[in-house]
Amino acid sequence: MKSYKVAILGATGAVGRELLQLLESRKFPLADLKLLASPRSAGRTLPFQGEQLPVEPVGEKSFEGIDLVLASAGSSTSKIWALKAVLAGAVVIDNSSAFRMDANVPLVVPEVNPETAASHQGIIANPNCTTILMSVAVWPLHKVEPVRRIVAATYQSASGAGARAMEEMKEQAKAILNGETPKTEIFPYPLAFNLFLHNSPLNEQGYCEEEMKMLNETRKIFAEPELRISATCVRVPVLRAHSEALNLEFGRPFSAAQAREILRNAPGVKLVEDWQANYFPMPAEASGCDEVLVGRIREDISHPCGLELWLSGDQIRKGAALNAVQIAELLIAKNWLQPATAAVASK
Ligand code: A2P
Repeated sequence: MKSYKVAILGATGAVGRELLQLLESRKFPLADLKLLASPRSAGRTLPFQGEQLPVEPVGEKSFEGIDLVLASAGSSTSKIWALKAVLAGAVVIDNSSAFRMDANVPLVVPEVNPETAASHQGIIANPNCTTILMSVAVWPLHKVEPVRRIVAATYQSASGAGARAMEEMKEQAKAILNGETPKTEIFPYPLAFNLFLHNSPLNEQGYCEEEMKMLNETRKIFAEPELRISATCVRVPVLRAHSEALNLEFGRPFSAAQAREILRNAPGVKLVEDWQANYFPMPAEASGCDEVLVGRIREDISHPCGLELWLSGDQIRKGAALNAVQIAELLIAKNWLQPATAAVASK
């Protein structure tokens, strides 16, 4: 079996570390693994397959001979390095928002639109985490009966803001329990024992960037440019795994029983419902799971064609690292892991 030279850009971050674990546990065919981060991490090592691998500061020569880059170092870092990596002959699966809405960049959720990855020109974008989780749950229903409108409320964990944000929330909790004033560096307000609306920039209509990502990215992934979505994104004091309350409107009544049967067999979904015990998906149980946990499926009492459902999914795993590794596995299985140097250079 062929093996590949892989680089992780942002290896020291929350998603980067998860990528390392997934490459190991899924026995990814590696010929070599290079760990890249900022100069701040020079000299650090990270464990992989029983060894300590060095972390290198990313630089001009980092991508020579690399087949695949898994990038999760933020949008500004991707904008600097992704094209350089492509020109060096690598394929980049980018977890940031830098290229997601670029018409030449496929935006891929393997359970939804795997075929779009075939047309990559060196960069494939991994969607926003809340968007991935919603897509995995809604797509199987949408295929049976097109969804016309989605109203979403999200309950997003600290992990979405990175490893340092998770530490900040823990420190805030300790400070509050000790009667001290919690410190805020990453988050704009204390998150421990609190919640606040997602603090990405607001547009003229009053929607934040995260909410607009759910709209625009889902439209692109579903190839439904007119799909109507309104989201309210909230950061909650959960360490890891996001949850979402979704109200779906279809063109005809969609029974909860039918939706349940479809989702029971849907790829990437695990149905979690015990109505007697009032037991449904929870972020604590979704943490570390590959599947999106979906439950509390019920017909909307306010609309004859509406359906309500609730989900929890590991933001670091399916919402980021796992989706990226699944895309890489797809590229290998379909023989689509081909450098696009020529195509990019000719632009
Ligand atoms: P570092 O640890 O050296 O700062 P998270 O999203 O969990 O905060 O992780 C962000 C990741 O992106 C980290 O691995 C971080 O490395 C990396 N990173 C941030 N800025 C840069 C940069 N300018 N160049 C390379 N890597 C970066």
